[in-house]
Amino acid sequence: MSRILCECREITRETVQAAIDDGATLKDLKRLGCTVQCGSCLPEVEDMLGKRRAWWADIHRPAALAAAMGLAVLFAPPLEDLLASGPENTGHDGLECADCHLEAPGTTRQQLQANTQWLLGSRETPADFVHGPVDNDACEDCHDRDGEDRHPPFRFREARFEDARDAIAPQYCVSCHQEHQGGRVTNGGETCEHCHEEFEEEVLEPDHQALADDGRFETCLQCHDFHDNHLFDEPTSLDDAIPLDEVQAYQDGGEDPYSTKKRFGDGR
Ligand code: HEC
Ligand code: HEC
Ligand code: HEC
Ligand code: HEC
Ligand code: HEC
Repeated sequence: MSRILCECREITRETVQAAIDDGATLKDLKRLGCTVQCGSCLPEVEDMLGKRRAWWADIHRPAALAAAMGLAVLFAPPLEDLLASGPENTGHDGLECADCHLEAPGTTRQQLQANTQWLLGSRETPADFVHGPVDNDACEDCHDRDGEDRHPPFRFREARFEDARDAIAPQYCVSCHQEHQGGRVTNGGETCEHCHEEFEEEVLEPDHQALADDGRFETCLQCHDFHDNHLFDEPTSLDDAIPLDEVQAYQDGGEDPYSTKKRFGDGR
């Protein structure tokens, strides 16, 4: 057993370390419940965050800088003049490119200087170049579920989801919603099996364990939505379930078969 690090919420050091290894920030850890109550674990958590193994530690510096420069060309303003690899996703046609591709901090010249210093070894970390990566914060700025999402991505930074992280990276919105694909969902029912192999038999109608044992994970989205944002009654029989082709059409950008009524936003 790993030592308890955050006493108030009984969170182990192992859980915190796994989250940090996977890129969690202090903000993410706070959402897990860490450091927010009595605060006595904050120094240790900050220490662990400081020792985080960075993504760039494994990269040869000149190669990384060349890659950053390449990206700078790719994302050099005006971004609007560049062609993304495909059409906007469902609902995103009115958005500005910069709604998701946020500017990296600093002027281009400062970023160049910082990266040159890093290349020469006088700076510890490289700087983002012109545009940083599109992360969950960008999506959640518009799609805020106020803590009511039944599958909030930050939860999947917990240690017990390690296998699922390796397989499908469910801690990132873009793992299931690749952008510039002209649809809604790029990775749907295939994901369920990575976390729902076992069920408490007595509570369920239909027999979920039989479905899972038979590998019938394509059925899951015929009765359940993923985020629990739709207001509808989940069918109790496969006969009443949403036909598979309608589920697929929805993921590809077609009509919404669950309900037009939602808890949050109109699709937000
Ligand atoms: C809803 C968010 C969103 C909007 C709006 C958006 N993008 Fe993207 N874009 C992404 C994501 C996510 C990626 C994947 C790369 C990443 O994660 O940084 C991406 C990748 C790209 C890439 C790399 C090649 C590719 O297609 O994967 C280019 C070029 C690009 N976007 C250009 C644009 C332009 C031009 C616009 C405006 C017309 C735009 N984007 C609007 C989210 C968005
Ligand atoms: C600037 C605001 C904004 C940002 C940033 C944004 N979206 Fe959206 N998104 C919207 C709007 C507006 C819609 C259309 C809502 C509607 O259907 O009424 C939408 C629609 C969607 C839909 C389809 C919803 C539906 O029911 O049709 C998905 C899925 C989605 N966004 C995922 C994402 C993901 C993933 C990201 C991050 C890469 C993201 N969005 C970033 C504003 C945003
Ligand atoms: C493990 C896969 C997965 C991840 C990760 C994921 N989604 Fe989804 N998302 C789905 C699936 C499957 C659907 C279609 C079923 C549904 O409507 O809930 C969906 C539907 C949606 C919709 C439309 C329905 C609604 O809830 O209004 C939006 C918007 C959306 N996702 C946004 C996001 C955002 C924002 C994130 C990150 C914070 C995210 N998703 C992360 C799988 C995922
Ligand atoms: C990365 C792990 C992960 C993935 C992938 C995943 N789930 Fe879940 N799911 C969870 C966890 C964790 C819970 C909450 C269970 C709990 O709190 O006991 C949950 C809960 C649920 C619930 C029950 C919510 C309630 O009311 O109790 C449903 C239904 C569900 N998931 C359906 C799905 C479907 C459908 C898919 C595939 C599209 C899916 N899940 C994919 C981890 C996951
Ligand atoms: C025919 C419709 C149907 C199908 C198919 C289905 N479910 Fe369900 N599921 C339900 C209903 C209805 C409930 C609520 C049962 C209850 O509350 O007694 C439920 C409950 C659940 C729960 C909550 C169980 C709990 O109490 O912790 C989870 C998790 C879940 N389903 C996941 C899945 C996954 C994963 C799949 C795919 C293998 C799936 N379901 C397939 C209808 C369905």
